[in-house]
Amino acid sequence: MNENDWRFVKKRTAADGAVYVSADTTRYRRTGGAELQAEGEFQRRIAGRGYPVPRVLEEGVTDDGRYYVVEESLGDQTLHDRAVASLDGSQHMTDDVAITAGHVAVRLLQAQAAHFVQPAPGTLRQWLDSAGFTENVFQENPDLDTTRTHAALEHALERLGTVPLVEGHLDYGLPNVLPAGVIDWQHHGLVPLGYDVLPALEIIAFKGGSKGYTASLDQRLRYLAALDDASLNATGQPVSQNLGAYLLVKALFFLALMRPTDLSRTDKHLKWQYRRHLFTEGLEQYERTGTVDTALFPRLQDFAAGHRPGDHP
Ligand SMILES: Nc1ncnc2c1ncn2[C@@H]1O[C@H](COP(=O)(O)OP(=O)(O)O)[C@@H](O)[C@H]1O
Ligand SMILES: [Mg+2]
Repeated sequence: MNENDWRFVKKRTAADGAVYVSADTTRYRRTGGAELQAEGEFQRRIAGRGYPVPRVLEEGVTDDGRYYVVEESLGDQTLHDRAVASLDGSQHMTDDVAITAGHVAVRLLQAQAAHFVQPAPGTLRQWLDSAGFTENVFQENPDLDTTRTHAALEHALERLGTVPLVEGHLDYGLPNVLPAGVIDWQHHGLVPLGYDVLPALEIIAFKGGSKGYTASLDQRLRYLAALDDASLNATGQPVSQNLGAYLLVKALFFLALMRPTDLSRTDKHLKWQYRRHLFTEGLEQYERTGTVDTALFPRLQDFAAGHRPGDHP
């Protein structure tokens, strides 16, 4: 196959680069800068540790000085694609998708639990700041930069103080999961065990219903039970006890970079207000119960019904 046999798939969501697929669809090629080189190295390392990730087949520099990485394809449908395709009038994904999500999550968790990383002091706090984009969130939402917010985050950090740190994905969710493994490691870094996989079915709620599917209570409980089984075996601790702390950080993550610079964009303004609402609701739940039940979040359209464009603060 020659260089021209690559079909453009998309620009990369959070990086300066693009994704291409080979004409026979057996391989994917990403282009980018130095960060892609680091991503490729990371992926090789964790593949060597038994993580369910695509094998890196080739790396190098393009004619125009960009970096590229070629990896094997893990299949033609992500679990997000499958959840959308299998909708049959109900808003819940089919059990098959939820169960497959559980299998992949268990494989990733087991590989992570078999390779703890010795943390330097401050590593857990660095994880919180990068995973939660705290600097950006407090800059865009100074009214949330309160002793109350910080008290909850300190509480979460304390609770996570004894959780082992592992090499993680940091953008784990059904769009990056296929039955054969996990793709798109651009945000890789150290995470407390369970941070990647535990919230995967919960974070769908942050999209406000726009994905077209959700996970039912039963699907979510079975998913968490499968992860607890795996972590009890590997570490003696049930990982799901940390779900609340992780969802508090996810509520920050989903609020990051949401404040529109163009105030006439009422659609963007509404989404920003929605995510502010979810953060505040998550914080309240966390304070009250020590966890966050995303099923209690309003859908975007219900939230919008109570917020007209004229409601700008
Ligand atoms: N190794 C792979 N196997 C199967 N599909 C892939 C693979 N790599 C990329 N894809 C497909 O390409 C899409 C974009 O790749 P991804 O790295 O996730 O980009 P982004 O950073 O924009 O999310 C994925 O959602 C998936 O559909
Ligand atoms: Mg992706």
